[in-house]
Amino acid sequence: MRILVLGGTSFVGRSIVTKALDRDHDVTLFHRGRTGTDLFPGAERLRGDRDENDLSALEGRSFDAVVDVSGTVPRHVRHAAEVLDERVGRYLFLSSNTVYASGAGPGADESAPLVAPEWDSEVVGARTRGPLKVACERELTSRFGERATIVRPGVLAGPHDNLDQFTYWVRRAAKGGRVVLPGDPGQPLQVLDARDLAHLVVRLLEEDRSGVFNAMGPAAPLTLAGMIHTCAAAAGTGVELILVPSGTVKARFPLVRPDRIREQFFQRDTTRAREAGLPSTPLSTTAADVLAWDRGRGEPPLRSAPAPELERNLLDYVLRSRPSLAARTPPGPTVTDRHAL
Ligand SMILES: NC(=O)c1ccc[n+]([C@@H]2O[C@H](COP(=O)([O-])OP(=O)(O)OC[C@H]3O[C@@H](n4cnc5c(N)ncnc54)[C@H](OP(=O)(O)O)[C@@H]3O)[C@@H](O)[C@H]2O)c1
Repeated sequence: MRILVLGGTSFVGRSIVTKALDRDHDVTLFHRGRTGTDLFPGAERLRGDRDENDLSALEGRSFDAVVDVSGTVPRHVRHAAEVLDERVGRYLFLSSNTVYASGAGPGADESAPLVAPEWDSEVVGARTRGPLKVACERELTSRFGERATIVRPGVLAGPHDNLDQFTYWVRRAAKGGRVVLPGDPGQPLQVLDARDLAHLVVRLLEEDRSGVFNAMGPAAPLTLAGMIHTCAAAAGTGVELILVPSGTVKARFPLVRPDRIREQFFQRDTTRAREAGLPSTPLSTTAADVLAWDRGRGEPPLRSAPAPELERNLLDYVLRSRPSLAARTPPGPTVTDRHAL
């Protein structure tokens, strides 16, 4: 297939391009040329800026399918859909689970209520990200109808992750010892390997499937504590979770969401995507690959990490209030039990 990827040079899109090339598809990348300029030498590369409505490089070009990874505001999608129009077979838009309104319970599927679309602002932030994606989805389906496919991932992880949420826990667990967790260790969690998402996206294109697909992982239920212990096991270390009531810490630790614990936020139904071919790489594999990648790039500062002094201060506080805990030796090479405040 001739596949146009709008984006494709950072993390999620990069995984999709890698998978499409592995499957022998002809891939054309469209981006501004700021990231990943040395990647994919075998792929055609077109330059343009969606923020500036500069899509002239796409005019007159035809593709079997387009994968839109870089559309964040409805104008991006409207403009791309207008320029490509009938010269593209299928338009797959990478949306997000932020489109869902809160309230639906665990196990909600793609029919769960959405937040109201945002049409007036193009400022992408915590409050507008979901509403803007809903508007993007509406732009696409109103123009492309059955030729539209929408994929809604939750948290994604893997090598080249540019948000670092899972990477933070991989790195932290690999250090072993006492790990501060300001949240509920039993909090449900969904983390999908970006390579699994890429597999699903390419499969949906190959099978020319329309519709909406939740894309979360892993296949088996996961908790925060389970994730951290899996990361430690992948690194061959031992961790002891030191639980701190979430209300005592203002800063948010990556993936710790006490506010979402009783919702579908990390418990969405993925049956449609699984039936469509979403694989389930074991979390231990994702953790091991992220660890190797992170070490290979020299462990730079992470976007999502809490300040190291915050972790140290929290730990000191717990140890001061629990002398019996302080007297014990922190874990060595094996995973040990957990201690609540
Ligand atoms: N990471 C997650 O956990 C997660 C979860 C849910 C959904 N998502 C979705 O994944 C997508 C982002 O993933 P990613 O950043 O890893 O994707 P990516 O496709 O790997 O990287 C973003 C691409 O967009 C291009 N780009 C950015 N601004 C542009 C512009 N104004 N005009 C043209 N091209 C532009 C960038 O290249 P240049 O900089 O060279 O232009 C780059 O190729 C978003 O749609 C997001 O909602 C991510």
